[in-house]
Amino acid sequence: MVRYDPTIYDGAAVHYRYGRPAYSSDLEALLAEELDLDGSGRLLDVGCGPGILTVRLVHLFAEAVGLDPDPEMLAEGRRAAEERGIANIAWVQALAEDLPGAAPGTYRVVTFGSSFWWTDEVRVAEAVYDVLEPGGALVLVTHKAGAGAVPPSPEPPPIPHAEIEALVEKYLGSGRRAGQGAAPARSAEEDVIAGTRFGVPRVIFAPGIPDLVRDTESVLSGYFSFSWSAPHLFGDRVEAFATEVRELLRARSPEGIFWDWPGDTEVILARK
Ligand SMILES: C[S@@+](CC[C@H](N)C(=O)[O-])C[C@H]1O[C@@H](n2cnc3c(N)ncnc32)[C@H](O)[C@@H]1O
Repeated sequence: MVRYDPTIYDGAAVHYRYGRPAYSSDLEALLAEELDLDGSGRLLDVGCGPGILTVRLVHLFAEAVGLDPDPEMLAEGRRAAEERGIANIAWVQALAEDLPGAAPGTYRVVTFGSSFWWTDEVRVAEAVYDVLEPGGALVLVTHKAGAGAVPPSPEPPPIPHAEIEALVEKYLGSGRRAGQGAAPARSAEEDVIAGTRFGVPRVIFAPGIPDLVRDTESVLSGYFSFSWSAPHLFGDRVEAFATEVRELLRARSPEGIFWDWPGDTEVILARK
């Protein structure tokens, strides 16, 4: 079981929206069709971070709740909703393990965007089962690099992930860190769900964005948005790390433009 450490994303929230590649552009259409979403019912987005899925999916429901324990992430989510004139999202600071009490009510869909693995998965899935309306769905969304064919590379060079990760290792040591300890091991989420009242889920892949292009600062922000290379881990060497990443990126692309391929978007769907 993962015990929540409030420092895992220290300093990461401001980098998140700018630095993380978007999930598949087909995600809304896929969920609307698979789950017969018609603008009614409620969405609960757990581990919503800066509201990535909450803001993207709320128009498929009457209202949404974005739940996350990290106040900086929630502040970014609120800001993103305000910028888009979205007023039907309630933001709740709580752990998934605090469900159902933290966000009572009945939901048509409960989503986890790259967040389920941070939680006490079986207990949380069972709590989600209880808050879903009959026929409602638990939906786990993640990038899945390596699951499908890699599209042909467009003009800009790919992000030199291996070289940036070597820099992270130079500063932080080998073995991924998170918060005050080591990053938790991840289990196959579909197997976890299969062991709950949901039973065996469906796994669907939505095509990733094939021609996503990012600039140097966005690539750097992407790394600062990861728990294992969040700004706080570098202490007073954070600027030195940023400088080395910028130098590396300049060497790989004088124009400062990179192709990003985070993979297709995996959607694990479990109905009540
Ligand atoms: C990788 S971010 C995902 C953000 C967003 N859902 C997305 O799709 O990009 C993981 C989020 O899970 C949150 N989180 C970590 N432990 C959690 C827990 N026990 N319950 C709920 N959320 C948690 C973190 O604060 C963080 O905002």
